[in-house]
Amino acid sequence: METNNNNNNINILEIINIKKSFKLTKKEQESKKLTSPYLKAVDNLSFKVKSGEIFGLLGPNGAGKTTALRMISSLISLDEGKILFNNKDIKDDLFSYRKKVGFLTFELKLDDFFTPSYTFFYMSSLYGINKEEIFKRRDYLFSLFEINDFKDIKIKDLSTGMKQKVSLAISLAHNPDIIIFDEPTNGLDIVASKEVLNYLLKLKSENKIIIVSSHIFSLIEKICDRVLIILNGKYQKEIDLNMSKDKSIEDIFFKIYEDYYSNNKDYLYK
Ligand SMILES: Nc1ncnc2c1ncn2[C@@H]1O[C@H](COP(=O)(O)OP(=O)(O)O)[C@@H](O)[C@H]1O
Ligand SMILES: [Mg+2]
Repeated sequence: METNNNNNNINILEIINIKKSFKLTKKEQESKKLTSPYLKAVDNLSFKVKSGEIFGLLGPNGAGKTTALRMISSLISLDEGKILFNNKDIKDDLFSYRKKVGFLTFELKLDDFFTPSYTFFYMSSLYGINKEEIFKRRDYLFSLFEINDFKDIKIKDLSTGMKQKVSLAISLAHNPDIIIFDEPTNGLDIVASKEVLNYLLKLKSENKIIIVSSHIFSLIEKICDRVLIILNGKYQKEIDLNMSKDKSIEDIFFKIYEDYYSNNKDYLYK
């Protein structure tokens, strides 16, 4: 077992006015009834997260959650805005930033013909981690997620749940300080969901920065310190859940949602 989390420093991640548009094909533009071929997927989001906090992005399908998380993980570029990690623009040293970030998603595609053990080893080597460290980390994560009995079986022969656990272990191979998790319980059964949420709380206690996206109110209420409601790529309201424990996030969300769409214009609730 890993005993220390060697992370007593406070890290701060600041997301400042980030924007991303996608150029649509004519067909896509027509189906979305847009007058411009550019779709503003993320339109000016800002927030700040520090070590030991779980920050949530809450919004319906198409709100821009995944796009925002991809930008924050530096998987895709920003059109505008910036991201600061400990006051430094991440684009000045993307390589070292990427070593600190774990992007978790159940959509990670694993190669069917490799085993979990080999995949873990291969992916960790890409981070430049030494062999001994890789084996230590693999033992720790595979026992944590109960993968050991399946570690030498080809991915194609594993159950969906086991594949999901393997993809989590791989995304955490490099022991990232920043954990970004897109829809943490999507596709999981109730037992696995609880395990994943407990694991996120454990990472919080290890002083990680954690950002999750979700459309599940109870998940947000259970694990998040703060949540940002986004609609149509836009910032609507940030709520401190530690300060408003008595309020229902669902009620707050639907009040904002109804106002936004009944006015049918871009309202900012700051
Ligand atoms: N690569 C892409 N090309 C074109 N449109 C995209 C692309 N990725 C996302 N979108 C669009 O951007 C909007 C936001 O998508 P997404 O970030 O996936 O939202 P969410 O994760 O909140 O459901 C949606 O309208 C989606 O169709
Ligand atoms: Mg999404």
